[in-house]
Parts: sequence; C-alpha cells; structure tokens
Amino acid sequence: MTRTKHIPLRDMRLGTPARIRARRTYHPLARPKPSTKGGLVVAKLSHEQEREHAKACQLIDLPRDLTDEERAFVLDNWQASCTARSASDRAYFTPAGLARDMAVHVGGDRILDLAAGIGRLAFHCRDLRARPPRPGPELVCIERNPAYVRVGRRVLPEARWICADITAIPRMRDTLGEFDCVISNPPYGAIPRAVDATSGYRGRRFEYHAIALAAMVARRGVFLVPQVAVPFRYSGMPRIESGTGDAEYRKFAAATGIELEMNCGIDTTQYRQDWQGIASQVEIVHADFTERSVATARPEAAQERHGQLALSSH
Ligand SMILES: C[S@@+](CC[C@H](N)C(=O)[O-])C[C@H]1O[C@@H](n2cnc3c(N)ncnc32)[C@H](O)[C@@H]1O
Repeated sequence: MTRTKHIPLRDMRLGTPARIRARRTYHPLARPKPSTKGGLVVAKLSHEQEREHAKACQLIDLPRDLTDEERAFVLDNWQASCTARSASDRAYFTPAGLARDMAVHVGGDRILDLAAGIGRLAFHCRDLRARPPRPGPELVCIERNPAYVRVGRRVLPEARWICADITAIPRMRDTLGEFDCVISNPPYGAIPRAVDATSGYRGRRFEYHAIALAAMVARRGVFLVPQVAVPFRYSGMPRIESGTGDAEYRKFAAATGIELEMNCGIDTTQYRQDWQGIASQVEIVHADFTERSVATARPEAAQERHGQLALSSH
C-alpha cells in the first residue's frame, strides 16, 4: 500500500492566481452581476472564488489520490467557467445539497450519470446501498468535455469515465449494457446536436433528447430539468400545480411514451443561492422507462413483445 501525504487544505500555499475571467451567456438570474466587454457578457469571479479555484486546480494536479475532503473541495470550488467552452457546454454544475436530494430517488446496482460534468451527481450515489463488505453501485459517467472528464476522474475515480457525446449512446449500447437508473442534469434548451435521439422526439429541447437517450439503456431515470419542461410546478410555488405540460412536453410524451413524474417533495429553490453564477428554475423529475407503451419503447422491445404475442396466440 502506498503512503500518501495529506496536505490540509488550509495549509496549501498558492501562487498569485492568474486573473480569471469567465465568459458566459447571460441568464436573468445570473450572479454576480455580469459586465459586457467586446460584445461578450463576462461574469467575473470574486477574488475568493479565484483563490478556491486555483486551490482546486492544485489538488487535481497532486501526484496521489485525493482524500474525501479534497474531492468534495474540488467539486465545490472548481469553476467550469474558467474553461473556454463552459457556456456552449451549458456547464452549470449542480450544487451539493441538490445533488444529495436527487440521490434519494436513485437506486440499483448500475447507475449511469449522463452529461456528468465533473461528476457531482454520481458522487452522491457512491454510497447508495453500500454496506461493507458489499460495495456501492457500479457507476458510469459520460461527459463530452475532456477537461471535465479529467477533473471527474480525480474526484470520482471509482466511476468508469467515458469522454463522449451522449448522442452516441445508440451506438454504445452493447458496450454500456443495461442500467438500473440514469441520473442527469443535462444541458437544456435548443442546443445544436450531432444527431437526433432515435426515439421519435424531434423537438428543440435537448433535455428531452437526453431523457430519451437514457430510456434506451436504463429502466428508470432521475433528472433535473427546467420547470417549464415538466407537467407540474412545485419548486417556489405555494402549492403543487399539476397539468398536462406545454405543447413541447406533450409532443415529447406522445413520441416517446415517457412521462415525467413529480419527485418526493423537494423544492429546488432552497438551493438557489448555491449555483455557481447561475440559478435556473428547475424541478427534479423521475421517469419509469419500463412503463412506456410498447409502441414507443425501444424498437427491439416491441419486436420481442410482438414475438411473444405471436407465440402465445398459437
Ligand atoms: C448542466 S451541466 C451538468 C453537469 C453535471 N451533470 C452536474 O449536474 O453537475 C451539463 C453538462 O453536460 C455536458 N454536455 C453538454 N452537451 C453534451 C453532450 N452532447 N454529450 C455529453 N455531455 C454534454 C456539459 O459539458 C456539461 O458538463
């Protein structure tokens, strides 16, 4: 066993951090107040955020495994906005408390984190059902930005990290296998995609494509999605408002047979101040992919079912 030297976080000596400017698309709820430069909206990090980010970078570069405390520090303080592509990637990492709450809905032996960022959601699924000597679940994280994957491998080395576009999932199904549960805070909205998810949904909301892709490899899923994209409003409301969703949701549900259901009563607005620089109005939803109508579920599942019906009718 190799001996590791643990450097207390407070004792780490830092050089003067380079001035870090984060380029971001403006969001109505963005914090701190952005300024405009050369036509780009620039959200500056505070000096403290710069210092903590630099400290997180140092930890990532250490030539040894990180302690649990160090991993949590990196997750809390490594700023995606310091990378060139954070805005185009829609890299808004989930706050710790919200990720912990989402994990309440997750279960099973094989868990997939889709569009995993640096692994915040999977990190809180590590210990689910772990009762030594029984290990925790097998974790797989898919993320397309190699810079995030590098950080993710340091904070969550027990997961298998795959640097790939999630739209490649239909081609990766054989190697990925079947998952008990997908967990995801995917990018939202009208984002250019390599290909449409082969699910029947052809609309503009990337979050629905991510959910449809999840349904190809998992039995159920837990997702963080914009409130406008779900058929109820709970977070920040005095009472639950349920309905049938907007036209885009109905299009998605009709095309895929997937219904997004209310969580166990988690109001996400309690974590509003904890997002790094942005705070969207979001809801936690879960979906049972085994309950979809066969016609809209995976094509081979429909074929199997037809085969069974044909056999049973003889
Ligand atoms: C909203 S962030 C959430 C990250 C992480 N799931 C979390 O909750 O902290 C979305 C992530 O999706 C990644 N991403 C965006 N488009 C992707 C794609 N087509 N395939 C894989 N990852 C993608 C981004 O790089 C970013 O890390």
